[in-house]
Amino acid sequence: MKRKNILVTGGAGFIGSNFVRMVLDERDDINVVNLDALTYAGNLANLEGYVDSPRHEFVHGDINDAELIDSIIGNNNVDAVVNFAAESHVDRSIEGPRVFYETNVMGTLNLLERVRSSDGDVRFLQVSTDEVYGSLDDGGLFTETTTIKPNSPYSASKAAADHLVHSFRHTFGMDCVMTRCSNNYGPLQFPEKMVPLCINNIKNGKNIPLYGDGLQVRDWLYVHDHCAAILRVLESEPTGEVYNIGGCDEKTNLELVKTILRLLDADESLITFVKDRPGHDRRYAIDSSKLMNELGWAPTVDFETGMRKTIQWYEENQQWLDAVASGDYLSYYERMYDA
Ligand code: NAD
Ligand code: TYD
Repeated sequence: MKRKNILVTGGAGFIGSNFVRMVLDERDDINVVNLDALTYAGNLANLEGYVDSPRHEFVHGDINDAELIDSIIGNNNVDAVVNFAAESHVDRSIEGPRVFYETNVMGTLNLLERVRSSDGDVRFLQVSTDEVYGSLDDGGLFTETTTIKPNSPYSASKAAADHLVHSFRHTFGMDCVMTRCSNNYGPLQFPEKMVPLCINNIKNGKNIPLYGDGLQVRDWLYVHDHCAAILRVLESEPTGEVYNIGGCDEKTNLELVKTILRLLDADESLITFVKDRPGHDRRYAIDSSKLMNELGWAPTVDFETGMRKTIQWYEENQQWLDAVASGDYLSYYERMYDA
């Protein structure tokens, strides 16, 4: 399928900027319009060296702005929209859910409406999350048919958006597809998230706050593998509406932290158990076999290799850290609870 001109939203955030970089590096047949509101989580430093690419146009704006979206879709003959834009941090959604609904739900609705009213045949790819499925408290894996049962205000907002996407496909026959991914890690992740928070704290000799007993399980996926999967879904003729994307690398948070400590040759005494996140989901684990079997995708970077690459990237990019946050950045948890 020909996908020439794509509108990427949230392309100055962690995964979106990795995706934009990958497309510009690897595909000279794709032009990118990158719309981002540059919230605390978005930064042009994530696109350094790419902003002025002739195949990239950055637009500073909000996915809720109907007029702006219309003009972007109309003026650029957009073939596809890839919606990364979101409020993405669970802890922040506990403290203040409203903006999660404004961006994740109303923003997605606005994009769907603008695509629907455009003249062209535009594919809409919604970047969603495995967190919409809720928590796997014992064995088993999330499949695409697992019941949606979100537990946090963040995941509830993403689930609401997924329902909207489904409804526009079902009711209006729009070309909509969704990807639901597990926890990403890699370069350019804002340092409030667990992996960069650990690396940064260890570098600064600070404690690592581990919520509850630290035995919650996440399925870690290197961000470049996620971006490759999204491109695969975007360009294929998906037979399904939803594709799960997982790293097949389940780890408890304690195992994750111990790995990072070992790779940085740091002492485990930095681990500090703090009070648990309210409503903390116990385990996420993804079955990606549909994506693997139908579209031939597979993760290429294992946990240990990916973690080494990530640590090296953060070590070599202190300037980036200073640009997006201060070098000795306080995590959201520390600021809220003074842990
Ligand atoms: P992020 O928080 O790093 O980036 C989000 C980006 O969206 C930022 O650049 C921000 O400025 C932009 N944005 C926020 N509100 C906006 C608005 N109203 N209009 C335009 N832009 C806006 O998030 P991320 O980790 O890169 O996640 C990207 C997407 O992937 C999200 O939809 C998230 O739900 C999903 N996801 C993330 C993970 C993960 O592990 N990070 C896992 C699965 C799914
Ligand atoms: P996070 O990166 O916030 O992703 P998510 O909540 O979307 O999975 O957190 C990953 C895991 O690490 C999650 O189980 C919460 C835990 N965590 C801590 O134990 N301490 C922290 O300071 C943070 C930010 C997260």
